[in-house]
Amino acid sequence: MVLNDEIALNVLKKKIYERTGVDCSKYKDNYLKRRIDLRMKAVGIGTSYNEYYRFLEKKPCEYDSLLDGITINVTEFFRDSDTFDAFKNMVIPQLLSEKVKRNSKILRIWSAACSIGEEPYTIGIILHEKLGHELNNFLGSIQATDIDEKALSVARTGIYDAEALKKISKYQLSKYFDVVDGTDKYRIKDNVKHLVRFQQHDLISGKKFSHFDIIFCRNVMIYFGRELQSRLFLDFYNALNDGGYLIIGRTETMTGEAKDKFACVNTRERIYKKDSGIS
Ligand SMILES: C[S@@+](CC[C@H](N)C(=O)[O-])C[C@H]1O[C@@H](n2cnc3c(N)ncnc32)[C@H](O)[C@@H]1O
Repeated sequence: MVLNDEIALNVLKKKIYERTGVDCSKYKDNYLKRRIDLRMKAVGIGTSYNEYYRFLEKKPCEYDSLLDGITINVTEFFRDSDTFDAFKNMVIPQLLSEKVKRNSKILRIWSAACSIGEEPYTIGIILHEKLGHELNNFLGSIQATDIDEKALSVARTGIYDAEALKKISKYQLSKYFDVVDGTDKYRIKDNVKHLVRFQQHDLISGKKFSHFDIIFCRNVMIYFGRELQSRLFLDFYNALNDGGYLIIGRTETMTGEAKDKFACVNTRERIYKKDSGIS
């Protein structure tokens, strides 16, 4: 990138922050450039970030489209089903046996960067499948957060096209979804919906949470720079109870100080345990 372009990109990042509150300087430059380039192409601007900056100034509504481009919402129910199998058959049993020992009835899960809700609802379905009536003995909750308010409003409706449910079995479909009258869409039933609470939250600048048993943060840190990734892994460490689990994306890698604090309990599925015995 020539120097002028680099300066223009930095000006653009600053402007995006001022206008939207999203700190783009923490995302990987290559990723950001790819997403901005796509928007530039869509509005017919060649390769000049300066020109795109002037376009944004004239047409501020383009900031919304740009943010949509940056916060890619790709997700699906049971995405990487092996990970959810490990969650169901390894994480939940281990966690519950520790809960029994500690006589604790609270089960708190955080789905960070939850997009349009398919990840937290998958977690809810699995809790039902695994625990059945025993779920009633727990104060179970899934906090689902994302930076993107538009994605969250879809998540809150809990309504999905049949295509989104392709990994859901017929049995699960009838147990956890209702057909939306007069459409070919499905709505998640209250038995799962009631477990999930959606909240807008920016992983970069948002408040720090605590006291979770399990955190899912999948397929978002890959877009962030290394320094921010390292800080987030520590944030997740601090947000977990002792013995809690962190589950990240299958293509993501733990970096920074947190690497020495977590025990990796499933390398393939990227599942980590906060082990108070590790310093
Ligand atoms: C590719 S989706 C991943 C969804 C889900 N976790 C999964 O694996 O299927 C990435 C999500 O991260 C969200 N995101 C991007 N930057 C974020 C930030 N700074 N804080 C919180 N969420 C963010 C996007 O809005 C998007 O919904």
